[in-house]
Amino acid sequence: MADDFDMIAKTFFGLEGVLADELASLGAKEVSTGRRMCSFRGDRALLYRANIRCRTAVRVLKPVHAFTITDEASLYRGVGELDWLAHLEDDGSLAIDPVVHHSIFENTLYTAQLAKDAIVDQIRAKTGRRPSIDLADPDLRINLHIDRDRVTLYLDASGDSLHKRGYRAAAGEAPLNEVLAAGVLRLSGWDGASPLSDFMCGSGTLLIEAAMMARGIAPGTLGRRFGYTRWKDFCPATHDAEMASARAQARPALFFPIQGTDLDPEVLAAARENARRATVDGDIAWSVANFEDASPPAASGMLVTNPPYDRRMKTARIEAVYRRIGDALKQHWADHTAFLLIGNPDAAKHVGLRPSSKIRLFNGPIECRLLKFDLFAAQGDRSARQREASCESLPDFSNRLRRMARHWRRWFSRQNVDCFRVYDRDVPGVPLAIDWYAGHVLISPYERPHGRTQIEQTAWLEQIVGLAAEGLDVPRSKVLLRAGDAGAAGGGPRAEGTRMLTVHEGPLAFDVRLDPSKETGLAIDRRDLRKLLYDDAPECRALDLFARAGTATVAMALGGATSTKSVEASTGWTAWAKRNWKLNDMSSAVHRIVCQDPLEFVAQLDPAEGPQFDLALVEPPGFDGQRRAGVWNVQDGHVELLNQLLACMAPHGRIYFVTTFRRFKLDAPQLCCASVREITRRTIPRDIRDKKAHRSWLIFRDDQQADETKEQG
Ligand SMILES: C[S@@+](CC[C@H](N)C(=O)[O-])C[C@H]1O[C@@H](n2cnc3c(N)ncnc32)[C@H](O)[C@@H]1O
Repeated sequence: MADDFDMIAKTFFGLEGVLADELASLGAKEVSTGRRMCSFRGDRALLYRANIRCRTAVRVLKPVHAFTITDEASLYRGVGELDWLAHLEDDGSLAIDPVVHHSIFENTLYTAQLAKDAIVDQIRAKTGRRPSIDLADPDLRINLHIDRDRVTLYLDASGDSLHKRGYRAAAGEAPLNEVLAAGVLRLSGWDGASPLSDFMCGSGTLLIEAAMMARGIAPGTLGRRFGYTRWKDFCPATHDAEMASARAQARPALFFPIQGTDLDPEVLAAARENARRATVDGDIAWSVANFEDASPPAASGMLVTNPPYDRRMKTARIEAVYRRIGDALKQHWADHTAFLLIGNPDAAKHVGLRPSSKIRLFNGPIECRLLKFDLFAAQGDRSARQREASCESLPDFSNRLRRMARHWRRWFSRQNVDCFRVYDRDVPGVPLAIDWYAGHVLISPYERPHGRTQIEQTAWLEQIVGLAAEGLDVPRSKVLLRAGDAGAAGGGPRAEGTRMLTVHEGPLAFDVRLDPSKETGLAIDRRDLRKLLYDDAPECRALDLFARAGTATVAMALGGATSTKSVEASTGWTAWAKRNWKLNDMSSAVHRIVCQDPLEFVAQLDPAEGPQFDLALVEPPGFDGQRRAGVWNVQDGHVELLNQLLACMAPHGRIYFVTTFRRFKLDAPQLCCASVREITRRTIPRDIRDKKAHRSWLIFRDDQQADETKEQG
């Protein structure tokens, strides 16, 4: 037809075929598919219709000019060949979206700048006025496409991306793009007339798109605007006719169930609101449920879902979650077809069912697979995996805590110790440490694969907090959850603010800080080490290297050390140490705090000045085994550090050396004038289950060892 022109519609990878079908059904001619696009022909009415009705197009473009380039000047000239006043008023606004493939231009933005100059200069030369730039809401959006030396200029008929239907008020954690959701439904072959469910529906995109499809509600009728309505040749009558015809297609109600469930009530509230805005709220039944408890609304139908793909999730966890999804499908969804859009192709293996088809798609930059599973008869009982991952073992947990707390309270009250570990991974499926700090409770989750999704982990930890409060008989406000796997950043139960309190270990008192993400200032697993230092300190000149809050120094000072030196680089820790001094009436004249890098401090000790210490604690900071350039680590650096220190120890001097690096190997033969004994078993307290929470050694000056041997002889 004489009024027909070429157009292209852009889409996402993998949706080209379904978009071509959609365009053809709307009356497009000469439809052919390309990479992430379809080209077609039609008239102005079709241009409007494609924008209003297409569910799988991202935007519709109209080519207006094409030319070849050799350099910058030819790009400027080529853009200027078109009469821009035919498309834009001289006081209008424009934006240029560049798409550049294999071009002589490396800088995409520069091409847009050149094209903009060409348009603005041309209009100014003709009228003396210049259009302005408005990237967010221009009168004319131009797509500048450069492929090697070939340039095509398109007018963007959509303006904003067509995935913005106008119904999304609120999004969940990782909402699916509306165009992708519609594409998934088309690829699934859903007939728009049979029961449909999503058991991890999030903000409901798949189901809302499905309900709109089934009801014939065109995505462009929900109130959004289109770029072509601001074109100079805009025809309101044609637009109104297309809108009216699209609206006339809508059917009033559905005669089959659409069901959306999710574990997160907040995200479900967003889904409800989105559905209301899409005018399909009456078509979808929403409810809060774990996917393992969701059951189909009818004997047969389709399940389509997009399970969480948390990039921070550890592989073992992803595997466990997908195994549970597979179990749930087998258990509850017999006689259904299930489609899973999975953001982690490897995870698919763990569903434990053979997919009957796989389609490669992209969710933004994330490569996905749309897997189809044909589910037949129900299989097996609720699996062991499901039982393990759910919270069934928890009701007994508060009783266990009550028993353990009673036991340890009895034990520690005799020693006037009011902070200790009540629970330490005692139950395999409950990998937590729970510490008692003088009436307050600190829960620290161990980093362990657990097979729960983020929202499940949050709910699980909420439950743990409640059970801990009940079992330990404290108000919930006194239970603090450490940020771990599902902590503050990961959306764990609300982390309470910091609390400071004073705790006791026999005669010693310490200020501790209970904070979801910071150290407490008192390592419970060093309690017995502090006791050893206390007993060993009488009449000693003591050194505490890497002293942090100075808790070991306090032990040595109150144990009878004649003087102490606490060396610590951080001013925060040294300020804290001062508070501990005050709490224990330690005089700062004999108990000195040195704010200096401990390695530097030791390097500056001068053996010529004679023995300076009788007793020392050396506890270098943690090391994960990864050597980093320019960063000191305990494995490579301990020999030099200890030898420097040994040279300044008194003949009867002892160094207690402690590390949390589990694979640490103390290089004893390299130590000068020293004999070494590992004492880890003596320094791990009985309430700490992990017998390698730290490792410790006692290093004697050799003359001391020689004396001992002589005495024994
Ligand atoms: C990737 S999101 C789904 C996004 C959704 N397609 C949308 O467009 O908003 C995954 C969803 O799984 C939910 N989820 C995680 N664990 C769940 C569980 N055990 N039971 C039900 N839903 C769960 C999360 O709350 C989240 O909303």
